[in-house]
Amino acid sequence: DLHKPLAGKRILVTGGGTRERIDPVRYLGNDSSGKMGAAIAAAAQELGAQKVTFIAANATAATPPGVERIEVESAEQMLEAVMGRLSANDMVVKAAAVADYRPKHVFSRKIKKQEDSLMLELERTPDILHTIGHSGYSGFVIGFAAETGEAAEYAMDKLRRKNCDLIAANNVLLEGAGFGTDTNVLEIYGPEGLVAALPAMSKQEAAKRLLTLAAERMAAHAA
Ligand code: C5P
Repeated sequence: DLHKPLAGKRILVTGGGTRERIDPVRYLGNDSSGKMGAAIAAAAQELGAQKVTFIAANATAATPPGVERIEVESAEQMLEAVMGRLSANDMVVKAAAVADYRPKHVFSRKIKKQEDSLMLELERTPDILHTIGHSGYSGFVIGFAAETGEAAEYAMDKLRRKNCDLIAANNVLLEGAGFGTDTNVLEIYGPEGLVAALPAMSKQEAAKRLLTLAAERMAAHAA
């Protein structure tokens, strides 16, 4: 069915932004609303997916009807939620803004004000997309790249390093793109380079174009 190119497929989508605890009342976070992830989950349903799971990190965006939502807070929790469900899914779309760093020590009590400055030591979080790409997973993997320039170079580098099938890059400095907006401007990269440069459109429409392209490539792989 041309209108249901994801028929029979199980899709795992991550969205929102992770929070990395500092103490019981504080965290390091980012501005991701989860709108792009929710739009992808909705588009997957619309394109006929058999099952859609949305792993949401602190996302204010609503869950599209029929989609299973799993709540996580941190990068570590997202890693566990994703890896535990990987083999039950045919495609993973990593639209979440995952923190790159987290506090090395999590204080069990609220940090008290000091006279002087306070040093917070940070350590790297696990790279979930990289972990998926190097896990031997045979499904289709789509990553995102929020850039502030030179998207092509960074996107291709990400695609190769993290071993993805597609990377959707958006310049977050462009008007009508990025965090919190209802529209996005996506450039889609595959192993061969730029595959599609989409003009500004609703996140819903951009999600549909991205997943339609992914479905075509999945079908070509299977053939
Ligand atoms: O390297 P960068 O953070 O720009 O890559 C963005 C892509 O990698 C997104 O798809 C994001 O969800 C994913 N990512 C991840 N785990 C991290 C950092 C990024 O899965 N710790």
